[in-house]
Amino acid sequence: MEIKTVSTTPFDDQRPGTSGLRKKVKVFQQPNYLENFVQSIFDALDGFQGQALVVGGDGRFYNREAIQVIVKMAAANGFGKVIVGRGALLSTPAASCVIRKYGTFGGIILSASHNPGGPDADFGIKYNASNGGPAAENITEAIYSLSLDINEYRIADTADIDLETIAEQKVGDMLVEVIDPVSDYADMMQQLFDFDAMRNLLGSGSFTMSFDAMNAITGPYAREILENRLGAPAGTVLRGEPLEDFGGAHPDPNLVHAKQLVEMMTGDDAPDFGAASDGDGDRNMILGRDFYVTPSDSLAILAANARLVPGYEQGLAGVARSMPTSQAVDRVAEALDIDCYETPTGWKFFGNLLDAGKITLCGEESFGTGSDHVREKDGLWAVLFWLNVLAVRKQAVADIVTDHWQKYGRDVYTRHDYEGVPAAGANELMQGLRDAIGQLKGQDFAAYKVEHSDDFSYTDSVDNSVSSNQGIRILFTNGARIVYRLSGTGTEGATLRVYIEQPEKDPKRLEDDPQEMLSELINLSRSIARIEHHTGRIAPDVIT
Ligand code: G1P
Ligand code: ZN
Repeated sequence: MEIKTVSTTPFDDQRPGTSGLRKKVKVFQQPNYLENFVQSIFDALDGFQGQALVVGGDGRFYNREAIQVIVKMAAANGFGKVIVGRGALLSTPAASCVIRKYGTFGGIILSASHNPGGPDADFGIKYNASNGGPAAENITEAIYSLSLDINEYRIADTADIDLETIAEQKVGDMLVEVIDPVSDYADMMQQLFDFDAMRNLLGSGSFTMSFDAMNAITGPYAREILENRLGAPAGTVLRGEPLEDFGGAHPDPNLVHAKQLVEMMTGDDAPDFGAASDGDGDRNMILGRDFYVTPSDSLAILAANARLVPGYEQGLAGVARSMPTSQAVDRVAEALDIDCYETPTGWKFFGNLLDAGKITLCGEESFGTGSDHVREKDGLWAVLFWLNVLAVRKQAVADIVTDHWQKYGRDVYTRHDYEGVPAAGANELMQGLRDAIGQLKGQDFAAYKVEHSDDFSYTDSVDNSVSSNQGIRILFTNGARIVYRLSGTGTEGATLRVYIEQPEKDPKRLEDDPQEMLSELINLSRSIARIEHHTGRIAPDVIT
């Protein structure tokens, strides 16, 4: 094998964000852009000589080309083996599963998650460590600083590998193993859940479900598990073919982008259970007939019902949620007498807690739920967890949620996103809030009195690392909260996320519409931050 050492010059924009490096495809297609980043990943790691690396992606445009480059660079840098999903595919949770199952050194996942795909859309790359989880901040920062200094990269000068056949190949001395991207993951799900009970439910004739794979990676996984292994009728999985541009759609399972499914779930003849997953398979949306389960509630409900599911019947060590996620799970943790951790946004912050056995379940308001079975959030896992609970409780989704609210109260919750706003205005808005934190305490805004306000800072209880500036919190004396932060995953301008929450115990109001129930707080969220002044926007682009 001939190894080429190629001279290059640094790019100054390769700092990984909330979940790896995300850019427009056109940015990644610049000569050396991908290669620089991959070499910086390898340069930031120690001790991988002769070890195995997992690579795979969500199948979006540029996935295959990028995989070929990474395989050749892995060979040139001294990896002993690369494990790659057939067709260059691996969902994010399946990649995490494979890294853990085969004990590899780490993995590289190609995805821009829920962002659109195609030649003019988005691409992304991230490194996951041997625990199967996103690299910790010290690694991502090391990658970034190396990327600012890079002057050469190494790549094997060989032909492309065959990505279509499940077989072993060689690139120089390095072994390449093309694996079925689905089976390891499906086997793991079969161990966690009561497939017999779920098969009975799906075959009972009185229960129907629809799963929208949004033309993204989860299609093959959902078909194998729901239709083949659990016997759901063919057609249960909608849009099951992964497409390079997701059929032109935005593969984000929320009320706006999974509209087709949301409409299907309305009316008397709607399926009993509806679910969707995102571009790379780590997000989930849960729907009942005429009913939407917020991701924050979903986490709390899974925690409260965990003992009904074989993989969790021993109970939970603890739970965690990202700071902007509603406090619903906190109440469940209190009732179960287990710890509840509040972490910054981004799955990487759950890794240490999971590795240390401090938590079993964790989640984010952004349609992310997961457990200690892998080190990524896991869309299909959450759907199967719900299906298992439905099979045991034999109640409608809506009844399970309203029962939960009766018992624990409801955290009425909404997130408002102002997308693609000019970065300067967004930064001024955040700075304005930061400057105001000190004076907010004790101030009255109509019925709301500020109890505390800060820029969230987190100290990891395992390695004591500190992550600061993680979002402005305004906490009111009645338990309500407004949280502001800027997205770390966007590729264009800035996205302001405003998270609004208020606990409600009045049984008569439990089922009202959140936008109505929160209207006063929503107005406050706009005036306190002077959103219109700084962004020119009077209303959000996406409400979830
Ligand atoms: C968003 C979500 C966050 C999630 C991340 C990756 O990040 O808000 O919870 O972990 O995507 O899926 P953001 O764009 O807000 O930085
Ligand atoms: Zn995702």
